[in-house]
Amino acid sequence: MPWLAERARAELADIAAAERTRLRQTVGASRADGQVRCADGQWRRVFCSNDYLGLAGDPRLAAAAAGADASGARASQHVCGYHAEQAALEAELAAVLGVPRVLVGGSGYALNSGAIAVLAGAQDQIYSDALNHASLIDGCRLSRARVQRYAHADLADLQAHMDSAARPAAGQLIVTDALFSMDGDVAPLAGLLDLARRRDAALYVDDAHGFGWAGPGGSGHLAAAGLADARVVQLVTFGKALGGYGAALAGEADIIEWLLQRCRTTMFATALPPAVCAAARAALRICAGEPEHAARLRARIALFRREAAAAGLRLLPSQSPIQALLLGAESRALAWQQGLWQRGYWVNAIRPPTVPAGTARLRITLSAAQAEADVRGLVAALAELQAAETALSA
Ligand SMILES: Cc1ncc(COP(=O)(O)O)c(C=O)c1O
Repeated sequence: MPWLAERARAELADIAAAERTRLRQTVGASRADGQVRCADGQWRRVFCSNDYLGLAGDPRLAAAAAGADASGARASQHVCGYHAEQAALEAELAAVLGVPRVLVGGSGYALNSGAIAVLAGAQDQIYSDALNHASLIDGCRLSRARVQRYAHADLADLQAHMDSAARPAAGQLIVTDALFSMDGDVAPLAGLLDLARRRDAALYVDDAHGFGWAGPGGSGHLAAAGLADARVVQLVTFGKALGGYGAALAGEADIIEWLLQRCRTTMFATALPPAVCAAARAALRICAGEPEHAARLRARIALFRREAAAAGLRLLPSQSPIQALLLGAESRALAWQQGLWQRGYWVNAIRPPTVPAGTARLRITLSAAQAEADVRGLVAALAELQAAETALSA
């Protein structure tokens, strides 16, 4: 057998033995109330998407995309792919985020990995939160900077690492998620910025999961906390609350120009299609002009937490749409996922390496699209699974 296929089989066997095989489920059709038809013909209530405001199926986004003059960008934005739709989107984003300049690119993953590799180099020191998203970790690796992980959301640990750095660095960059994608908690952004100011460090904040619903008009966690600063570079995505695809980097004008000139994942990639930019613009208008969607999302979060507490379910602390029910063993998380699937709810078990070993969990996400009755129904299904486990172990 050729060596590559042999290696593939060996690795696949290892993944299966560790119960870490990831399966894709085909989504057939979807409805505005967050239900989707699965391959077995059953409709299931989705509690695992990042469509926090229910905009992915909003006909106004589809109409905006259909109204754009091209479905493809035809080239990189450095060649002939920089369309007026992208230019308008960048200007509108700069106004929403309250920053001098914005650069739109292909996806949050592409921009995080490409941008951090520009912002820091071999002569620099990066401090990275222990629970940062994979795209941030990859950006740190690509930068070739020295990377020091600090304990999750722990300012004292970060400061201790800064104080004890073995060698001086030309520049220091603190890298963090704003809202952590698997735990649902928010980074201590004010404290991080304060520390960055005192140590003349720069701060890179990934608000993929907050942009669109948190803060005034969905402007995100930094704007919500009034944390504008020339030393901050921010990433926002359009694939989550905005219900589309794509992402943007935001910050001080010369830093964004530097990224435009150097970021390999925008330079050597096809630009975001005009149709996709038009959909993102339509979503931005909805986020700014219709606060009722974010208000409904907050109400669903509060309802879920109230009902879960009453049912004795132990959730991680989170006021965000991301709610984690820690189950520990991977097999246990998979069994709960399966139990919910059979009861008509789609929730994913999150396992290592996405989360640390021993912390497998259900990652439950709330959305403005979900009906109150479905949120209550999900909690009832979770309580049933918990009771069945207790009965088994008695
Ligand atoms: C925190 C965080 N950053 C970045 C990304 C990547 O964004 P995108 O889906 O636009 O590539 C994700 C996606 O899951 C994420 O959770």
